[in-house]
Amino acid sequence: MELVPLTSADEVARVGADIVEELVRRRPDAVLGLATGSTPLATYQELIARHQRGEGPAWGGVTTFNLDEYVGLPAGHEQSYLATIRRELTDPLGIDPARVHGPDPAEAGLPTAGERYEAAIAATGGVALQVLGIGTNGHLAFNEQGSSLGSPTRIKTLTEQTRRDNARFFGSPDEVPMHVLTQGIGTILRARHLVLIATGAGKAAAVAAAVEGPVSASCPASVLQLHPHATVLVDAAAAARLERLDYYAEVYAAKPVWQRH
Ligand code: GLP
Repeated sequence: MELVPLTSADEVARVGADIVEELVRRRPDAVLGLATGSTPLATYQELIARHQRGEGPAWGGVTTFNLDEYVGLPAGHEQSYLATIRRELTDPLGIDPARVHGPDPAEAGLPTAGERYEAAIAATGGVALQVLGIGTNGHLAFNEQGSSLGSPTRIKTLTEQTRRDNARFFGSPDEVPMHVLTQGIGTILRARHLVLIATGAGKAAAVAAAVEGPVSASCPASVLQLHPHATVLVDAAAAARLERLDYYAEVYAAKPVWQRH
């Protein structure tokens, strides 16, 4: 795992955007895994700003898969993760909505939604780069604490803490759906490069547990330690509880120029 200690959330967004663009320049038909939540928004805004200035790569051939989706929202609800990712990233980049995917939360198809999503990802050859956030309790996508480390895409029940954390997008915690569809931890681990983004003091404990704690279902994000190519971008506040921070900074400063992210 590479821990990249950056000073500010803006710098995290710039480095996050560099990593995504570098892949899309190299592979214009890249398959991207996308996270929602507040954290990646600054990276997405950076990508959009570069695109609008004519500095970005060509986005037309990119295919995307969201990590997760709420179950039980009315069709077309603005807080559905598919609507969110289109609004916040893929529409402004000009990616055809037909290339933008999320788990299908339609009630009638729920029993097979997970396997259909896994098949859709596999049919593209798999996710090349997966953008991830982290929950304050260490959850990854919507894999709450205790989720199987080998899990596939499936339905999950949110913890009260996650519903409280996400209530800011809704009127109140009661309006946050109980159920979600989420890529499993096994699904996420199949992506070829994981890029976890964490900013702000509220994520410091979760980042420390994920990066320096034991690999455990009690901290789903700790599975990054098992992945052959995981990058963690943190600002100073999110890095504050890392014991080996000085070492990560030395490693990053001494990184050979030929070594990409
Ligand atoms: C949500 C999402 C996750 C996200 C996490 C943190 O519940 N399902 O994919 O990483 O919570 O969100 P935020 O970045 O808003 O703190």
